[in-house]
Amino acid sequence: MTGTLIARGTVLDLCYLFAAITFILALKGLSNPKRARSGNFIAMFGMAVAIGATFFQPNLRNVVPMVIAMIVGAVIGIPTSRFVKMTAMPQLVAIFNGVGGGAAALVSITEYMKIQHEGPPTYVVLEVLLGVLIGTVSFSGSAIAFIKLQELITGRPITYPGQQVINALLGVGAVALIVIILIHPSVALLWILLAVAFIVGMAIVLPIGGADVPVLISLLNSLTGVAVAASGFTLGNNMLIVAGTLVGASGLLLTQMMCKAMGRSLPNILFSAFGSAVSGGAAGTGEDRPVRSQTPEDIGVMLAYANKVAIIPGYGLAVAQAQHIIRELADELEAKGIDVFYAIHPVAGRMPGHMNVLLAEANVPYDKLLEMDEANPMLKDCDVALVVGANDTVNPAAREAGSPISGMPIINADEAGQVVFLKRSMRPGFAGIENELLFNEKTTLVFGDAKETLTKMVGALAAS
Ligand code: TAP
Repeated sequence: MTGTLIARGTVLDLCYLFAAITFILALKGLSNPKRARSGNFIAMFGMAVAIGATFFQPNLRNVVPMVIAMIVGAVIGIPTSRFVKMTAMPQLVAIFNGVGGGAAALVSITEYMKIQHEGPPTYVVLEVLLGVLIGTVSFSGSAIAFIKLQELITGRPITYPGQQVINALLGVGAVALIVIILIHPSVALLWILLAVAFIVGMAIVLPIGGADVPVLISLLNSLTGVAVAASGFTLGNNMLIVAGTLVGASGLLLTQMMCKAMGRSLPNILFSAFGSAVSGGAAGTGEDRPVRSQTPEDIGVMLAYANKVAIIPGYGLAVAQAQHIIRELADELEAKGIDVFYAIHPVAGRMPGHMNVLLAEANVPYDKLLEMDEANPMLKDCDVALVVGANDTVNPAAREAGSPISGMPIINADEAGQVVFLKRSMRPGFAGIENELLFNEKTTLVFGDAKETLTKMVGALAAS
């Protein structure tokens, strides 16, 4: 009997080791658009092995509720993920992440109930309490992020006087509660810690503007990873420790990369309530200044005479769902012998890799997607920079001191021979600041929904 248990334990550990290796390979795959799909499949396979192996854990109990929970999760998760719109992807990630954090917190609460009378070592209780705190912060923070992104409440930063002091006091209060529970174990205090952690999660997210929320979700994702790793220590489960640590580390790295691409620091994103001052006049709609605008048909004909065209997509491409028609335009241009490439800014859109995913959906070849550093030196050789629903990511204000986006690297659209903007109005982009490039003498605006505009452009181009 004991021999069988040991053998089972060894097989379980080997399966977990195998799954851990697949997770690392999956992360490697996900770092490149060409291999991202296979990276995902590798992770799915590894996860299936890890879950399957867990059922062979010695002395496993409650198998039936576990299976029921998995079926319920699959019934909700699979259709939700399959049918989600690309523009709603950040919300989906937020809610899935919150559920992960909540689950980690529940594991820690259950464990505390179990061990509180046994006089466990202090470090074990600390692990459990950190699991409760971090998991709950991640849960409530992600829930607010979801509500903001879904526009159930305003996407603008929600601020009030003394907010940062109150948030700091809440943080200090949570840490103080942990210390008190370590000294005087108490279930009542655990519930208070849970409530405080819940409020901390909400308080952190409320002052963050809608479009900064993806950065925050990545940070919360990292926190969920840490909470899951803490659960792993609590339950003595190596798989949870490895998977949680990988999520924690990769989430943190992604957060850092996004901050760098936006030219802003993490504290600035978390504490500056970016976007709250933006409204009407402050943002500047530029309606009183002259701009040059033309019809889609004029631009379609004009493109036929270009030699090299850079397509610069942004958030508006996702809103208009214009990924297929932009590909058609590129095909049409290439059929006429015109060189085309896509210049992709790392934070174009509203989530990491947003443009890559959209364009991949339309089967745009990967080698046509050039990252900003690769694309920028080529822009001066382009006859036309076609800006499709992008704004902040081409705004030259980023090169000047004192602008809210100062220091953010941009795509040098203004270096092309001509700049064509496809957008619906003179409204600014996410950062809410006027874009001088719209008023530049070599810029032409084509007003309207990008999909409709591009459809007309393709027609005119094909006929010319
Ligand atoms: P934005 O600067 O937000 O500009 C989007 C433009 O699309 C707007 O000018 C809008 O103008 C236009 N637009 C919207 N719907 C459209 C439609 N149906 N047809 C045509 N145009 C449409 O976008 P961006 O250049 O991609 O920059 C992204 C911003 O988000 C940056 O400030 C970045 O820092 C921020 N951000 C990104 C991320 C990630 S990870 N991607 C994370 C956090 C923050 P109209 O309203 O006039 O049409």
